[in-house]
Amino acid sequence: MTKPLNVGIIGYGFMGRTHSNAYRKVRNFFDVPYEPVLKTICGLEEKEAKAFAERWGYQSYTTDWHKVIDDKSIDVVDICVPNNRHAEIAIAAAKAGKAICCEKPLALNAAEGEEMVKAVEKAGVANLVSFNYRRVPAVTLAKLLIDEGRLGRIFHYRANFLQDWTISSKVPQGGMGTWRLDVKAAGSGVTGDLLAHCIDTAMWQNGPITTVCGMTETFVKERMHTETGKVEPVGIDDACMFFCRFGNGSLGNFESTRYARGHKALYTFEINGEHASIAWDLHDLHRLSYFDHRDESIVRGWRSIHVTDGDMPYMGHWWVPGLQIGYEHAFVHQTADFLGNLAKGKPTSPTFREALATQYVCDAVLASAKNGKWEKVKSKSASRKAT
Ligand SMILES: NC(=O)c1ccc[n+]([C@@H]2O[C@H](COP(=O)([O-])OP(=O)(O)OC[C@H]3O[C@@H](n4cnc5c(N)ncnc54)[C@H](O)[C@@H]3O)[C@@H](O)[C@H]2O)c1
Repeated sequence: MTKPLNVGIIGYGFMGRTHSNAYRKVRNFFDVPYEPVLKTICGLEEKEAKAFAERWGYQSYTTDWHKVIDDKSIDVVDICVPNNRHAEIAIAAAKAGKAICCEKPLALNAAEGEEMVKAVEKAGVANLVSFNYRRVPAVTLAKLLIDEGRLGRIFHYRANFLQDWTISSKVPQGGMGTWRLDVKAAGSGVTGDLLAHCIDTAMWQNGPITTVCGMTETFVKERMHTETGKVEPVGIDDACMFFCRFGNGSLGNFESTRYARGHKALYTFEINGEHASIAWDLHDLHRLSYFDHRDESIVRGWRSIHVTDGDMPYMGHWWVPGLQIGYEHAFVHQTADFLGNLAKGKPTSPTFREALATQYVCDAVLASAKNGKWEKVKSKSASRKAT
């Protein structure tokens, strides 16, 4: 018997669409114990909220997020708004006893993140941060291969997340679409927006990052602010690079920028171990590159694993071997895991507490970029093992 689960999504933008799509599709492909009901969509503009509700089949819409929290019939609050709204909405949702899915990064900074962790743990509500790339099957497979020990001792972890959409100085800061350039709305630039993904995946696969040394740059120093109409200083990092040490002794190097002409969303990682290496590229997200030095020398080489077989992570739920899936599906997997665990009263990874660890790394990288010194990363272990 599946029970209805009433969902209220706050934010009908890019992520509002990926999450709505996931709630709608999840039961078609996964045996989840709930029937998600798209109850309320919330966003800033009434006309757009109404149009979104009609297109996606929401029962109601609102421009006031408090109404989603106050609605006793809503079971899950799903937060898809700019970063500066995550904390207040999540804390209110926790107090109201809602299960919460919150978009990444957890918060503007670790201090805010700590308050969010406190709130969800005090209320005892289910909580998940949407670091969706963990649930791309090839990325999940990489984690399984590492956990099986196939790579042996890990020496290097390197990751890039490259874009090119803010090169023009005419791109404004603030407001719809460009809130990511406004430090008050975003908290930081590429560090919290893009590197947070790379850091989450890296620590999930390779364990905690302990020390960092970072460098940031803001190439365009002033931009017109959409809300004030004035040219104002830019407070975000346009580019960020950092070196780090992991607790397991391996070395990391991470780079992110919105100034890599020709790259729209090039997220790549490579992990080098004693016996084997793994590489992944978001542009070919259904493939995993794997090199195993233990192979016979005459056939040894990088292999490109097409992650489509039924025994590969999540793939048994989709089509037939050889047919691949794409970007949206990671959100369906996330929703399937979240609903499955919710029914069992089990946490789903990454919880707010686990995402706080990523926030600590981001904060340490930004501090290091400012003071030019290596920074120790604050650590707090997860209280319960989440899956
Ligand atoms: N997991 C990922 O890969 C990924 C990708 C993109 C964005 N994100 C994250 O998702 C969040 C949203 O990003 P987006 O790209 O969807 O943004 P967006 O600009 O496309 O949409 C933001 C939405 O928030 C709504 N909103 C803003 N302030 C509000 C308020 N006070 N009350 C109610 N609604 C409000 C807007 O109406 C809009 O619908 C951010 O935290 C971002 O970092 C995650």
